[in-house]
Amino acid sequence: MSKPRQLTPQEEARLAQVRKNFQERRQISENLQSIKKKIGIYSGKGGVGKTTVATNLAIQIAKSGFSVSLFDCDIDCPNVTKTLHISEGPIEKDSKLIPPSRHGVSVMSMSFFQEDEETAIIWRGPMIRNAINQFLHSTQWGQLDFMIVDLPPGTSDAPLTVMQTLQLDGFIVVTTPQDLAALDAKRSINMIRKLNLEVIGIVENMSGDIFGRGAGEEISKSMGIPFFGSIELRKDYKTSTNPTVLESEDVEKEYSTISNNLLSKLNF
Ligand SMILES: Nc1ncnc2c1ncn2[C@@H]1O[C@H](COP(=O)(O)OP(=O)(O)O)[C@@H](O)[C@H]1O
Ligand SMILES: [Mg+2]
Repeated sequence: MSKPRQLTPQEEARLAQVRKNFQERRQISENLQSIKKKIGIYSGKGGVGKTTVATNLAIQIAKSGFSVSLFDCDIDCPNVTKTLHISEGPIEKDSKLIPPSRHGVSVMSMSFFQEDEETAIIWRGPMIRNAINQFLHSTQWGQLDFMIVDLPPGTSDAPLTVMQTLQLDGFIVVTTPQDLAALDAKRSINMIRKLNLEVIGIVENMSGDIFGRGAGEEISKSMGIPFFGSIELRKDYKTSTNPTVLESEDVEKEYSTISNNLLSKLNF
């Protein structure tokens, strides 16, 4: 039997890289096993209230006694730290990152690692994948009932890469009441379905006299997706120094309905 030939230094290096990738993937999947459900908050458009819904919903779920993490993956506009007024980043311990907490929700955000918040980073697919894997790998998430993920908007490379890398259990699509917003929402839902992933619910945000109402329920009926609830357009969001769900009873009622619908859809 012939002796196996010596590997060249390049081959050794490649083998080491393959081993490292494999180990990293195994650790990521171990890490993620301690999270029962990962839910993405998504829309076809920016500015419809994804970050607002992700933040307030995470807090509402935490108030019902569940363990929740909020993961800000909107790589172009990571705003979760703003809505929660978080200035400190994660703490490093035993080469793991321990996320800061607010109102019972632990928070990880791409913005913790941005040098300054006004600089735009141009993210390409492989960079996004690497960054998300790095987050998943190095964060000590702990045992969680839910991870709520604030996703980038649209149907371009960025949201697609995030969705595929994170292996989410389901999506909540946020729409506003206008016709054009509904059209975009339908397009996004079709994209998610093309990836063989599931939209588990629709939320209509900014309903009321100014923009009208009904787009969410229309999408729900025409596409066969549960309607989780609507949220009125209100001045409270502008003045609030705390997340609005903690400040206004009316807003709390809206989020309580949405949260209960989500929990029962997922058999919690
Ligand atoms: N129901 C609402 N009533 C009033 N203002 C809202 C409401 N929902 C969101 N906003 C405001 O609209 C703006 C955009 O919301 P944001 O959550 O940042 O959207 P997205 O994450 O989809 O880009 C924010 O200034 C937010 O405070
Ligand atoms: Mg946002």
